[in-house]
Amino acid sequence: MHLARKYNIAATGILVNLWFALLTGCTSSPEKSISQQQGLVAEKAMVVSAHPNASQIGLTILQKGGNAYDAAIATQFALAVAFPVAGNIGGGGFVVYRHHTGETGALDFREMAPANASATMYLDSAGNVIEGLSLNGHLASGVPGTVDGMVKLHQKLGSLPLKELIQPAIDLAKRGVVLTEAEARGLNNQRKNFISNNKHLPYLVREHDWKAGDTLYHHDLSRTLERVRDNGRDGFYKGETADIIVREIQRGGGIISHQDLENYTSVWRQPVTGKYNNLKVISMAPPSSGGIALLQLLQMMEPYKLAKYGWQNTPTVQLMTEAERRVYADRATYLGDPDFVDVPIEPLLEPSYLKARSADISLDKATPSSAVKAGDLMVYESEQTTHYSIVDQFGNAVSVTTTLNGSYGSKVVVEGAGFLLNNEMDDFSLKPGVPNMFGLVGGEANAIAPGKRMLSSMTPTIVEKDGKLYMVVGTPGGSTIITSVFQAILNVVEHDMSIQQAVAAPRFHHQWLPDEIQHEPDALSEEVKAELKQKGYNLNERGRFGRIDAILVLPDGRLEGGADPRGDDTAVGY
Ligand code: DON
Repeated sequence: MHLARKYNIAATGILVNLWFALLTGCTSSPEKSISQQQGLVAEKAMVVSAHPNASQIGLTILQKGGNAYDAAIATQFALAVAFPVAGNIGGGGFVVYRHHTGETGALDFREMAPANASATMYLDSAGNVIEGLSLNGHLASGVPGTVDGMVKLHQKLGSLPLKELIQPAIDLAKRGVVLTEAEARGLNNQRKNFISNNKHLPYLVREHDWKAGDTLYHHDLSRTLERVRDNGRDGFYKGETADIIVREIQRGGGIISHQDLENYTSVWRQPVTGKYNNLKVISMAPPSSGGIALLQLLQMMEPYKLAKYGWQNTPTVQLMTEAERRVYADRATYLGDPDFVDVPIEPLLEPSYLKARSADISLDKATPSSAVKAGDLMVYESEQTTHYSIVDQFGNAVSVTTTLNGSYGSKVVVEGAGFLLNNEMDDFSLKPGVPNMFGLVGGEANAIAPGKRMLSSMTPTIVEKDGKLYMVVGTPGGSTIITSVFQAILNVVEHDMSIQQAVAAPRFHHQWLPDEIQHEPDALSEEVKAELKQKGYNLNERGRFGRIDAILVLPDGRLEGGADPRGDDTAVGY
């Protein structure tokens, strides 16, 4: 089916561009457009990530006989070099995997608040949030989790030696990375922030602006990665790297200590799972809100059979929006780090609860967010990121979303170690009701406490169909992550799109507060916009959001890649 015709988005003036299936280690065409019909198709194995160098490194590991977990580790370290805006060793993330045997699992390598953190650390004496303190500079960082996470993933599921998985990133760091236009622009945009948040000029800044085609060398980072290669976890959390990190933190008035680094530990978690028709959805558990919210959204949509309303038509947008506003209200109230608060996972996913939650949805008019609060449960206590999807030749699948939080995190480069520190502390609720950088509000469940993990929206997801691997999907995009994954899944299963079309299709988003449908410029037709306004919806057109990287298993068993044309995202396979 021709996307442009079926979904009437040719009217937006976007070129229709056929993308032919490529085989045997080929890379997808860099010439991308939103209405491309099909992504790269490969026979056996595939890596889709935000950067061509990182995808290629992951693929090389698979071609050497490594499994999907080996490839994920190599891709993660490669992204730390090739994609410093979000790829990282100074941040954290989540892995969701499905082994070819059907066993599933999840690894939480989210950053943790340092021992000296406190609920009021970003407030002034009058109790107001001090602007920027949780976003830029040394106080904005949680204790990084990436290296511990990769080592733990390797211990449990890796097959090649860890050294072999880190070496390609080291080689790339030394050889240098040729900047794409988007990366050059990203670095130039942050020039002032890099200068103001670092004592000495960091290597990400040079006298003149960067331009596409320039080579960025990561000398200090290559040495840090060598220490990890040679000493594993201790190469980061102890010894020289730890000394360098703590020196940097102290220079800038931060609070991460040697003890915090030594104490950091990533955690295996049970993924959250649920059904949508004949699909089983496997996604990230708390401290991410992503899995619970995605399952709530899908289950609230199941009775409506969205296909009959058509893609991005008024009732479809209304139903999805009304579900989203209710789910984000729940998120703000109930979700936080499960090691600190009782997250009512089962009650939130209880079919009777979700049915009651949808009961007042009306197609006649919008429900104002002011009339929506978190639901009553039977129990109660409590931009930048990147995603990669991998399926290997053995049928293992891994879905990883990893982040520094904002673009280039805290903008602090650890001097002498060559990597950026995250600004993940902003994902905590700094003060009840005060929105974070993504406009999300929260309360007690996500208040700061020493050793606690901040609530996330990251939604690395794997979908089974009839008991078999079907889709691997995820995206960056802060609060829009959940709704972007939601739309990608619905685009395929309800609206008959290829995975490439599904990730490329323009998106919209509602997060309860602010009470508005945020949408990409071409996401809604003029007619639909007029109808929505007439029914009481507020519309807010914004730039593009999300960079979904996904893999779909085709009926014949081959793999189709969905690489988001919003970025330099690249599918490779063989
Ligand atoms: O964990 C979270 O939900 C956020 N730190 C993710 C940030 C993000 O996706 C920014 N990317 N555009």
